[in-house]
Amino acid sequence: MVRIGKRDLGSHTDKRPYGPQSISFDVSFYSAEFVSGIPERAMSLALKPTRGPGVEKDVEPYRLFNLDVFEYLSESPFGLYGSLPLMISHGKEGRSAGFFWLNAAEMQIDVLGDGWDAESGIDWVKQKRIDTFWMSEAGIVDAFFFVGPGPKEVVRQYTSVTGRPAMPQLFSIAYHQCRWNYRDEEDVENVDAKFDEHDIPYDVLWLDIDHTDGRRYFTWDSALFPHPEEMQKKLAEKGRHMVTIVDPHIKRDDSFRLHKEAAEKGYYVKDAGGKDFDGWCWPGSSSYLDMVNPEIRSWWGDKFSYKNYVGSTPSLYIWNDMNEPSVFNGPEVSMPRDALHLGGIEHRELHNSYGYYFHMATSNGLLKRGGGNDRPFVLSRAFFPGSQRYGPVWTGDNTADWDHLRVSVPMILTLGLTGISFSGADVGGYFGNPGPELLVRWYQLGAFYPFFRGHAHQDTKRREPWLFGY
Ligand code: GLC
Repeated sequence: MVRIGKRDLGSHTDKRPYGPQSISFDVSFYSAEFVSGIPERAMSLALKPTRGPGVEKDVEPYRLFNLDVFEYLSESPFGLYGSLPLMISHGKEGRSAGFFWLNAAEMQIDVLGDGWDAESGIDWVKQKRIDTFWMSEAGIVDAFFFVGPGPKEVVRQYTSVTGRPAMPQLFSIAYHQCRWNYRDEEDVENVDAKFDEHDIPYDVLWLDIDHTDGRRYFTWDSALFPHPEEMQKKLAEKGRHMVTIVDPHIKRDDSFRLHKEAAEKGYYVKDAGGKDFDGWCWPGSSSYLDMVNPEIRSWWGDKFSYKNYVGSTPSLYIWNDMNEPSVFNGPEVSMPRDALHLGGIEHRELHNSYGYYFHMATSNGLLKRGGGNDRPFVLSRAFFPGSQRYGPVWTGDNTADWDHLRVSVPMILTLGLTGISFSGADVGGYFGNPGPELLVRWYQLGAFYPFFRGHAHQDTKRREPWLFGY
């Protein structure tokens, strides 16, 4: 019964060596007024119907497929960077129930509109209900029903299955200052000093991809950041922390030790022909570690030790980005579905969990670094059920306009209701330049985001808070 959404694969083809497959079933929520959940998408908390009376014919089902969506719209049912196949129904007198399908393949879900066969002739089902249709491209039926009776209990029941959110470090619930990029050590020092000069509280300064040597993560550009330890120590003396970015794509450069080691050990995801998958991302030609393999996760985790991550200190924490995974020249800007993981498993089977495993590996690495005595802080863009155990997420590359400010609220509330209580949106809007009024309002709202970070694209004007004359 479920329609298959259009998929623009450009010039790519999906050979489907095992033939077509799919699983589908219906789930009905009795006594429901509306349903919510199944993030991530930039839209209202209540999920609008995709089929049934009054719904236009060409409305697509909700899609769960982690993608790096360029300049996403502020009002769109389109699936974004993360996927949580958990739906919660809301009825009269605060009654709720939940349905969760633990499946990491592409999923499409239809919500039936009011009047769709909602009244059954059979006596015992003579009550209002919402019907939903679920379909996945692959995988198994590993499904959970949560009986509530209220939304709080549903979240509790769901997190008893997928894990409770990690307790954040105190510093990480304060204000974070980020930009692509703080150019060099002098820039960092000036920004830090200005916060003090203007008496604006902030606790964390972030460095984006261009602090590295040619986007080789775990390295520093030696001309721009010649003294990383000293820089972090200066911040730490004032009780401040630093966060650097570490993405999952590894630059294919034989003089880069991390790449050499990963290639020699056979740690990369393979293409359909069995060679190391080679895709385009920030550093150019890159390969992607097979994060579903526990041995590789443990090896990755060791890269965060102070000895291995040269220039890192105990006040440095991590940002994981592009972990959908983003592949600039791949189908839909991601990894081909016939790429191969541990045990010859196709990427299509586990796509939505790739970013989760990467986040897990990084977070466990920081835990090991601190000898188990230091709570990790790792921000992730992609997510999957259980991500709440490894750190916060943010809503990706939003835009500096009022609609994006507005939609950040239902996006963050939806994440909270689906177990990810530590989340935020880029304050000010990532793309474009906010005017003073928008920026001020965004800071006022952002102070109530669980994760509160100002961030901006490299082409935007500088917008540290004191530049606006208030
Ligand atoms: C991605 C991130 C953004 C970051 C950029 C460069 O677009 O979402 O926050 O600044 O990559 O690393």
